[in-house]
Amino acid sequence: MILLSVGSSSSSQITAIFSVTLLLFYFSEATLRSPCPIDGLPIVRNISELPQDSYGIPGLTHMTVAGSVLHGMKEVEIWLQTFAPGAATPIHRHSCEEVFVVLKGSGTLYLAETHGSFPGKPVEFPIFANSTLHVPINDAHQVKNTGNEDLQVLVTISRPPIKIFTYDDWFMPHTAAKLKFPFFWDEQCFQESQKDEL
Ligand SMILES: *[C@@H]1O[C@H](CO)[C@@H](O)[C@H](O)[C@H]1NC(C)=O
Ligand SMILES: *[C@@H]1O[C@H](CO)[C@@H](O)[C@H](O)[C@H]1NC(C)=O
Repeated sequence: MILLSVGSSSSSQITAIFSVTLLLFYFSEATLRSPCPIDGLPIVRNISELPQDSYGIPGLTHMTVAGSVLHGMKEVEIWLQTFAPGAATPIHRHSCEEVFVVLKGSGTLYLAETHGSFPGKPVEFPIFANSTLHVPINDAHQVKNTGNEDLQVLVTISRPPIKIFTYDDWFMPHTAAKLKFPFFWDEQCFQESQKDEL
């Protein structure tokens, strides 16, 4: 009996403390670390404190600085990406505009400028720190770190969220390119925003 009453009074205290802690935890999670903070995006954020991930892509570090699915942006989306030496995007195309600013390192942009039924052998453009490049709408392309230090780029795309068609190689027909949508970094919040609409 004694044990039981002591147990229940201290357990209700523990429950109260636990609930408060849990509330604080959810509050700070929701305001500071929510992966999908639509409408809750602070005006100024410290880039060093934003979440980043490889999203399973070897050698990539991706951060959505300001995104559509993640933050409710309507017209543009900004990424900060780092490619380790040798790392590359898939060969892909998309119907949005895309502009890169190279912040660090060097690499190669491979761009298929021909407009047949498949991309064809790409033109190679060396890219370097403080260079900027844009990718014409729907041209198949690949960015690769062909240097020996990290390649860091700031990327702006229009009309997010991005709908990417990927190619296994430069000779795969456009009609066989595979749509990956939502793209890896949009998956989690895309699913949550779908749920919210139900
Ligand atoms: C930004 O975040 C980094 C890492 O947490 C920290 O070292 C730096 O002081 C922050 N900058 C400002 C201006 O708060
Ligand atoms: C990049 O170019 C701008 C414009 O010339 C210059 O102000 C800036 O210092 C350059 N940055 C680097 C890292 O070279």
